[in-house]
Amino acid sequence: MKVTVVGAGAVGASCAEYIAMKNFASEVVLVDIKEGFAEGKAMDLMQTASLNGFDTKITGATNDYAPTAGSDVAVITSGIPRKPGMTREELIGINAGIVKDVTSKLLANSPNVIIIVVSNPMDTMTYLVHKTSGLPKNRIIGMGGALDSARFKYRLSEALECPASDVEGMVIGGHSDTGMVPLIHKAVRNSVPVSEFLSADRMQQVVEDTKVGGATLTKLLGTSAWYAPGAAVSSLVHAIACDQKKMFPCSALLEGEFGLNDLCIGVPCVLGKDGLERIVEIELNDDEKAKLAASAEGVKKTNGLLDSAL
Ligand code: LAC
Repeated sequence: MKVTVVGAGAVGASCAEYIAMKNFASEVVLVDIKEGFAEGKAMDLMQTASLNGFDTKITGATNDYAPTAGSDVAVITSGIPRKPGMTREELIGINAGIVKDVTSKLLANSPNVIIIVVSNPMDTMTYLVHKTSGLPKNRIIGMGGALDSARFKYRLSEALECPASDVEGMVIGGHSDTGMVPLIHKAVRNSVPVSEFLSADRMQQVVEDTKVGGATLTKLLGTSAWYAPGAAVSSLVHAIACDQKKMFPCSALLEGEFGLNDLCIGVPCVLGKDGLERIVEIELNDDEKAKLAASAEGVKKTNGLLDSAL
């Protein structure tokens, strides 16, 4: 399994590091536009191989896609991250052009690649790849829900005062402060609904804290987070590499699923060797349906800005 990670910034480098640490890929190629940066990150990471015990070969390239040839999976993290006070949607002007350009360069070198989009506004960037690449929907995956769900489980574990491994929960909808739909009524601690442990107010607090998970970190760090985004991407790549058939909420092109059409938004998906192998149409209650529909409206509004952004 050969993986390309475009963008050797904090998210891209963390993603490469976690992929290497899980030791399932033969090769990771980091690409960045900044001269020498990807090569430097790759070399630094390779010098941890004997310490951390991985065999994945990590290399770097400056704006050269020839070394990425024959990649099975490519992760697009390039573009600018948000600064405190910014929404992910405000990044569309710069990031749309970058994501479009990167996609065509990736495909020119790896015609069979499965693309995972991380750049923000992520759902719209995923839709852009769909619109401009002509790839089948199983080969375009937006990473948002896996990260948002990890943040949801963190907040749940905090409220329940238990380890995150005791908790199961999922966030669907758009990867935005207003668009996320944490499925709090489906969240469980060891099969027991969390409502048996938490008050309605505490549950609502968990939902609100989850939705602004990225913004909270951006305020603290002065830029976008990287450890959890990198770990979330590596889990998706792992599921594809090892044909795990594991379910993650991912931004997928919808064609009638959940009553929605012509947009990419977070829904439960099964990932395996063919990428996004199946969208799982879980039963939603009326409140969840209304929230997903409102989230879809928001994503479509941002998608509407794409024409002028390109
Ligand atoms: C975040 C970015 C990756 O939520 O969107 O941290």
